[in-house]
Parts: sequence; structure tokens; C-alpha cells
Amino acid sequence: MNILILGSGGREHAFAWKLAQSKKIEKLFIAPGNAGTALVGTNIPVSVTDFDAIKNLVLKNKINMVIVGPEDPLVKGIHDFFLADELLKNIPVIGPQKDGAQLEGSKDFSKQFMMRHNIPTARYETFTKETLNEGLRFLETLQAPYVLKADGLAAGKGVIIPTTLDDAKKELTEMLANAKFGDASAKVVIEEFLKGIELSVFVLTDGNSYKILPSAKDYKRIGEGDTGLNTGGMGAVSPVPFADEAFIKKVEQRVIVPTINGLKKEGILYKGFIFIGLMNVNGNPQVIEYNVRMGDPETETVIPRIKSDLLDLFEGVANGNLHEKSFEVDARFATTVMLVAGGYPEEYKKGDEISGLELVEGSFAFHAGTAQQLATNDQQPVVTNGGRVIAITSYGDTMEDALKRSFANAERIQYKGKYYRKDIGNDLK
Ligand code: AMP
Ligand code: GLY
Repeated sequence: MNILILGSGGREHAFAWKLAQSKKIEKLFIAPGNAGTALVGTNIPVSVTDFDAIKNLVLKNKINMVIVGPEDPLVKGIHDFFLADELLKNIPVIGPQKDGAQLEGSKDFSKQFMMRHNIPTARYETFTKETLNEGLRFLETLQAPYVLKADGLAAGKGVIIPTTLDDAKKELTEMLANAKFGDASAKVVIEEFLKGIELSVFVLTDGNSYKILPSAKDYKRIGEGDTGLNTGGMGAVSPVPFADEAFIKKVEQRVIVPTINGLKKEGILYKGFIFIGLMNVNGNPQVIEYNVRMGDPETETVIPRIKSDLLDLFEGVANGNLHEKSFEVDARFATTVMLVAGGYPEEYKKGDEISGLELVEGSFAFHAGTAQQLATNDQQPVVTNGGRVIAITSYGDTMEDALKRSFANAERIQYKGKYYRKDIGNDLK
């Protein structure tokens, strides 16, 4: 089969690395990809939201399946675009249609969905510019800290957690009356603050049956001890030690089954990944959010732990026979440490040469934000091309072993301004 992966991060390099090992693969393309995906497939410089250009490249390269990495094209309806096109409609897309993608595209939709299907989540209300005053009064009924969520996609920045009532009121006013996040904050969800440890559980579904993928925990803040600004994710650990069989069983019964059944009941045919962000509140899972894709950097720990042929699983999703597919997980831990550019998540430089990639030993270096620089001589150095640069993933019989390897290799890679968190996994020890 000829496969196209859409995206350009560490998640997509991990997908590409895994799919390249499939017996069923003929040609692998990644659009737009990065210097790492170029090692296992062919990059094509097309944007993930340029549907017409994607159509051309799919037809030209006789692509048999498209795997969508990020949420943007899904929320914008790439799957619907394929289904509506005579030439594309039989080419399966892994990722939900627009209706299912609302689980991530609208916080209000996802909260209402959870309410309709009795899925445990924080108490909430939704407000608009017209109901700003009610929103301000609602804040007064809650205890600090306050959780304010822009309804729409806001590049991961749409959740604000003020610690005082005054700040919460100011933020709500900024979001609703002053359109702080543009259209994305035309509606704002205010919810109760949940206290506990976060983790993510991932599900792959063909719309009926599902496979529960390994759990993972990511580290969102830039600073050690979970301080400072939010990032896309600074590292990950899989499995999450406290998410034992009994806990995952609760997640399955209280969250996964009602989610899959709820989608079916509402006539939403969902084919793809469901990423369930959870808070473990005294041993009970509460849903913080749904995403309609895999997480990044969680994918870099989850995918290496899947022993089964990923393309075979994707065929199960496409053909509706996922339940017939074997699914095996590596018992070892996998840990990912993310190397980022100096200054990230605020302003940072691109184009700095990366050295030492060939010195990495006993870990995978999944490229996140890298590019191959065009040079006049034969050498085409790999340079930084994003805030998150390289994800270093290692296996270990224990979490500590795996982390030790990731940190050792983090030292071997060099570029100007390199930074990484040295406390990944510390809270789980
Ligand atoms: P989200 O984009 O919904 O995942 O929110 C971003 C982050 O905000 C989450 O990863 C949590 O750390 C935090 N968060 C969101 N909702 C809540 C909540 N109800 N209680 C506590 N923390 C939350
Ligand atoms: N690492 C969090 C995310 O992918 O949304």
C-alpha cells in the first residue's frame, strides 16, 4: 500500500517510523514532514490544510490511505472532503469527519456530549458575550482556582486557570467581550477545578470496536516542577504507573464504552484515534478533554510500545474489522525527553545546525521541529525548524532505566540554545 501521513512533528515521525516497518507498505509519503520523516519516507512540501494540493498528491502518487496527524485538518473537514470527492471517496482517511472532530473543535460540544452520555467530567457552564454578566456571577459560586476554556481551537493556548476571582473575571471579560482568542473565544466554558494527577488514555476505533492503546503522561509546562508557560509537551512516560488494570477498567467502563456508544447513538461514524485527557481524582477518572488525534509527545512513547503492525490496525479501522486484528503491547516502559529551542514557548530561533544525532545510542531520536538545509555542497545539515526540536525515546524495564537512556542521549545532541526538562517522570517515582 502507498500511505500518506499528514503533519510534521515528532508524532508524525513516530508514525512514519512504525509504518515503514509494516510488511504491507510499498511507498510512504509525509506532507510536509521533517528531516526525520525523510529518513523513512518521502516528504512532500504541502500544507496539511491545503486540501486541493493534498488531492493532487494523493492521485499522483496513487495513495491508498491517509493518516491525519494534527487536529486542524480534521476540524476543517479533510475526511468529509475526501468522502465528497468522486476520485477520493474510496481512499480511507484515519481520523474522524467534521462531526466527530467537534469533540476537540468545540469544548462546549464535548462537554454537552459528556453530559448526554453520563461521562464523568467537571461541572461546567458555557457563556457568550451576551451572557457575560451571568458568567461573572457564576464565577462567584466557584472556588479558586478557576478554569476558563475558549470553546474553539486556540493552538493549545485556550485554557486559562486564574487563581483569584478578580483575575478570573478579567480573563472572562477579555475572552468574551474583547475576543482574546478571536472566534475561538466567542463561547467560553467555565468549569470546576479538578484536583489530581493527569494522564492520557488513547483509543483507536473503527466506529464500533476499539483497541485501548498504552496510557501515557506528558509534561506540559516549560519549567521543572511543572512551572512556567504551557508548551506542546516537554516529555512523556508510558505506561503511567498508577494507571493499573483496575484503573484502566474504570476508564473503559465509565468513559470509553459510553463515548463509543454515544458517538454511534448520535449517528457519528468515528474512525480514528480518540485521545482522552483524564484527571485521576482519588482513583476515579474524570474527563478533562477529548482530542481527536494522538498526542505529541505521547505518540513517541505509545507507538514504540505497540508490537502489532500499525498498518494492519489502520486497515481494520478503515474496513470496520478492527476487532479481528491482533493487538500486542510491549511490556517495557518507554520515556520521551523533548529537546526544545532556547526561548520556546515564546520567541525562538530557527535554522541552527544540529550535531550529534549519529551519536545517539540505545534511544530513538524522533524529529519534531527539524529541516534539512539545502546546501551548495553535498552536505545538507539538519537544522532546527520549530520550538520542539527532537524527541528522545528510550525503552527500559523500569521507568528509571528508560529515563536514564533518554537523558544520556539528550546530552549527545547539540545545537545553540538547547533546553530540556531534567525532571520528566519524577512525579511518578
Ligand atoms: P485542556 O486543553 O482542556 O486539556 O486543558 C489544558 C490543561 O488545563 C489540562 O491539561 C489541565 O492541566 C488543565 N485543566 C483543564 N481543565 C481542568 C480542570 N477542570 N481542572 C483542573 N485542571 C484542568
Ligand atoms: N501533548 C498534548 C497534546 O498533544 O495535546
